[in-house]
Amino acid sequence: MDPEVRPIGIEQIRLLRHRLLRPRHPPEELVYLGDDAPDTLHLGAFEGGELVGIASVVREAIAPELGIQAGGGPAHGAPPHAQWRLRGMATFPHVRGRGHGARLVEGCLEHARGLGGRLLWCTARLSAEGFYRRLGFEGRGRVFGVPGLGPHELMVRVIWPDGEPSRTAEGSIRRGPR
Ligand SMILES: CC(C)(COP(=O)(O)OP(=O)(O)OC[C@H]1O[C@@H](n2cnc3c(N)ncnc32)[C@H](O)[C@@H]1OP(=O)(O)O)[C@@H](O)C(=O)NCCC(=O)NCCS
Repeated sequence: MDPEVRPIGIEQIRLLRHRLLRPRHPPEELVYLGDDAPDTLHLGAFEGGELVGIASVVREAIAPELGIQAGGGPAHGAPPHAQWRLRGMATFPHVRGRGHGARLVEGCLEHARGLGGRLLWCTARLSAEGFYRRLGFEGRGRVFGVPGLGPHELMVRVIWPDGEPSRTAEGSIRRGPR
């Protein structure tokens, strides 16, 4: 069975948030803003039919105080209603490096794009900064602490309405097909 991502229920999401991200909190406490919003997507990554990773994407504008804390307005002109937040992104250690994280981000990105999203953002653990950078996110360079979770950085990625740009041999950007 090929690896895939598909929507999963909030109970599975909260269980894996607990196991992979916040083991000191029981699953029922791991309720994030927007979890139940109608346009929120909760995705699971599967390998051989086994759930091996999670991610959620919610429509949420970067809070002004977070933008300031993180080092300035990084929204690339995206209006608040077109800003989407990636949350609760994690894969089990034994499957890392096999593309599940990238597939989860891609699924979240496509969902946001389909609903008019122009910016995907997250507060990234510094240990995962390279992962997000690899997937086209940029950081603001200023690190701030999240209580209990250590240093984080605000990272953003533009969502192109007509598909992602790709680089030609000369290095200029052209728009890819949708
Ligand atoms: C960060 C995490 C989600 C990555 O998941 P993954 O399934 O290993 O991701 P992928 O295999 O799709 O990796 C995609 C690319 O990013 C790279 N990458 C993955 N984790 C990385 C990291 N921590 N630093 C730098 N690069 C990383 C991979 O090598 C791969 O690069 P490639 O395309 O050149 O091969 C996973 O390591 C994890 O769950 N970590 C613990 C929880 C966590 O920190 N979550 C993020 C909270 S903000």
